[in-house]
Amino acid sequence: MVNAPAQIQSDQALSPAQTLWDMAAEDMAAVDALITERMQSPVGLIPNLGQHLVGAGGKRLRPLLTVATARLCGYEGTDHHKLAAAVEFIHSATLLHDDVVDESALRRGKKPANLIWGNSASILVGDFLFARAFNLMVETNNMDALGILSHASSVIAEGEVQQLAALRNLSMSEDDYMQVIKAKTAALFAAATEVSPVLAGKPASEREALREYGLKLGLAFQLVDDALDYGGFESALGKSVGDDFREGKMTLPVIRAVKAADKTEAEFWHRVIVDHEQSDVDFETAVSYIRKAGALASTMDLAKEFSRDAADALGVFPKSPWRDTLQNLAAFVVARIS
Ligand code: IPE
Ligand code: IPE
Ligand code: MG
Ligand code: MG
Repeated sequence: MVNAPAQIQSDQALSPAQTLWDMAAEDMAAVDALITERMQSPVGLIPNLGQHLVGAGGKRLRPLLTVATARLCGYEGTDHHKLAAAVEFIHSATLLHDDVVDESALRRGKKPANLIWGNSASILVGDFLFARAFNLMVETNNMDALGILSHASSVIAEGEVQQLAALRNLSMSEDDYMQVIKAKTAALFAAATEVSPVLAGKPASEREALREYGLKLGLAFQLVDDALDYGGFESALGKSVGDDFREGKMTLPVIRAVKAADKTEAEFWHRVIVDHEQSDVDFETAVSYIRKAGALASTMDLAKEFSRDAADALGVFPKSPWRDTLQNLAAFVVARIS
């Protein structure tokens, strides 16, 4: 087992999210109830498979962001619950599809749904959850919110396709990588936070600030996720480490290690990524080359920069407990181990 780098382990990792979770507990209970209710269908396979994923928990980070930012904006209605549930449905749908594409062995500490019910069932139930997300959005009667979340949905799919096209491409640039993570992950974070000022009828400056907050938070989140794939612990993550390596996926730690590679290392990367010939010891070798290049630390440094940008973006709001906690959440995201 590979040891996590010091900067990825943190004793205080959970506290800011926990505070935010406590503050939003009532809202989140309503969101969870809505998720369970809207996952129902007379076609039994849908709730069974859906419950397997949704019931396994997950951090509920994206819906938490929607309800917390709605509160930050002083929103007092209940439509934010529908949008938050829609955001989690979109996320859940992408996870069902993602585990088929990535051939993952573990999701939220359990066997991925496709390894129990098959790929076809996972893809189709993913489609159902996507569609249910749109039902929920339409119910809010808010065209702007619908526009934001539907745009994010197409951008996520674009990012996934762009990533697929770049698989095993050793010359993938950092710019292309940033574009992929912005699309596949940060777009949904940004949408999850941008819908709140829209719902609350807030001015464009607050909408822009919250979009920026979500976007930078999402970028930081995925950078950490990509570092954890080479330096995290399966038991904490609830998903396998080394998946990106096995797939030949170009993430920032690898891109930077390849850039710094000597001749032996360059040959190694070519064999394991381009030729996709991997043996049992290769993952550990990859981790050692990545560490030698300082690429885990530099990936985490970039995540920290984005996390600071996210916190700064909230500067347009007056100081409040919601603002403080959302700013702390940005720090949590780069300290997380799960
Ligand atoms: C997993 O997201 C997909 C990524 C963008 C890395 P999360 O880590 O938020 O997954 P859950 O919902 O907590 O399981
Ligand atoms: C998750 O991406 C799916 C989306 C962001 C759409 P990854 O494949 O990078 O995440 P994990 O590691 O499986 O959760
Ligand atoms: Mg994936
Ligand atoms: Mg995956």
